[in-house]
Amino acid sequence: MGKKKVLVVGQGGREHSLVWKLAASPEVGQVFAAPGNAGIAGQAECVAISPTDIEGLLQFAREQQIDLTVVGPEAPLMAGLVDVFKANHLRIFGPSGLAARIEGSKVFSKNLMQKYGIPTAAYRVFDRIEEAVSYARACFLGGSQAPVVIKADGLAAGKGVVVVHSEAEAVEALQDMMVKRVFGEAGDRVVIEECLVGEEVSVFALVDGEHVVPLVAAQDHKRVFDNDQGPNTGGMGAYSPAPVYTPELHQTVLHDILVPTVRAMAAEGCPYQGVLYAGLMVTAEGPRVLEFNARFGDPETQVVIPRLDCDLLPLLEAVVDGALDKAAVSFSAEACVCVVLASGGYPGDYSRGLEISGLDSLSPETLVFHAGTKRIGESLVTDGGRVLGIVSKGPDIRTAIDRVYAEVPKVQFPGVHYRTDIGRKALER
Ligand code: AMP
Ligand code: GLY
Repeated sequence: MGKKKVLVVGQGGREHSLVWKLAASPEVGQVFAAPGNAGIAGQAECVAISPTDIEGLLQFAREQQIDLTVVGPEAPLMAGLVDVFKANHLRIFGPSGLAARIEGSKVFSKNLMQKYGIPTAAYRVFDRIEEAVSYARACFLGGSQAPVVIKADGLAAGKGVVVVHSEAEAVEALQDMMVKRVFGEAGDRVVIEECLVGEEVSVFALVDGEHVVPLVAAQDHKRVFDNDQGPNTGGMGAYSPAPVYTPELHQTVLHDILVPTVRAMAAEGCPYQGVLYAGLMVTAEGPRVLEFNARFGDPETQVVIPRLDCDLLPLLEAVVDGALDKAAVSFSAEACVCVVLASGGYPGDYSRGLEISGLDSLSPETLVFHAGTKRIGESLVTDGGRVLGIVSKGPDIRTAIDRVYAEVPKVQFPGVHYRTDIGRKALER
């Protein structure tokens, strides 16, 4: 049989790591990326189609006779890309639009967890501002200092979650979402929930509708500055394995969270196929689901995929074929750390088009996953908030951290910002 053609939809560091792994598959002849970036262009042919241009992607996949399409970001999933491809008999990795509600609607996912006894923070749902405000007031009654979490129901580019510490902050967040509608209709309904305390961990599982194959866990670093200070970002770095995720915890997560969630989705008539991302808080009472995502995490994927010791393509195909029970997955015991180089000012305003230098001076073992980069003539320039992910491996986390931070300063562009404490939590344990 001829070698396969694969299309990866998306343009970030996550997609670069998927393209890199798929391009190394002995079964893959050609990888395309839509739209990709300057780094992805090293391993794939980039085509200028937006991830949400469903018609454009469909036409391309048909013309090129793509054997498997892999969807990176959430927006095309919610928009029904997978449904359209399947209706046209094209093989595609990712959940249907209905199943992607597990990420697209916090109300859907919270109600699902409540109905099926999947451990998560206690919550209430509101679609009227008056009721939301009076509930929030009640939460802070009698001088309660316990923070409360307010979440917009729909997708809000990672900004729809606010931890509030007072009635005034709660009212402001609710007004922003429900009256000023800063997230559009995504904030017409809100979830108000208990604030959980603990360490966060991201767990991905491949799911074929019925069977669950968990991947190794990773820890993200969401805040822009060291020591988890400053505003939330898409993620400033990650490492894997995460020592907080012990083998015992893994068993609990598998049996109390992943398997029941997959069964619940099937029982609700929207069986889940793709990668299920459980964002967990490890509390003193056990693991709790903060959120589910319907896709791989970014930058966690950049530390999970390099640890994968087997071919990725057959795993993704097993998901699409409902054959995960026959699939084998193996990971290296090595540790992997990713430091994100971001544009100065990110997650606020930042410039683009700044020249990047130093990539050719990195040690050959270092992996570089591009996020926001572009080529202009001979120059590589910045083209996004998160610009590059620098990844090192090592026999243990400490070595991987030392290696990555020996490499990171070699790469430069004006205003570059990165955290200097990625992985430190793992060392403190
Ligand atoms: P989400 O978009 O739901 O993942 O929320 C973004 C971030 O908000 C999470 O990664 C947590 O850091 C935080 N968060 C969300 N829900 C809670 C909660 N119930 N308690 C504490 N922190 C939370
Ligand atoms: N790293 C967080 C996310 O992908 O949602």
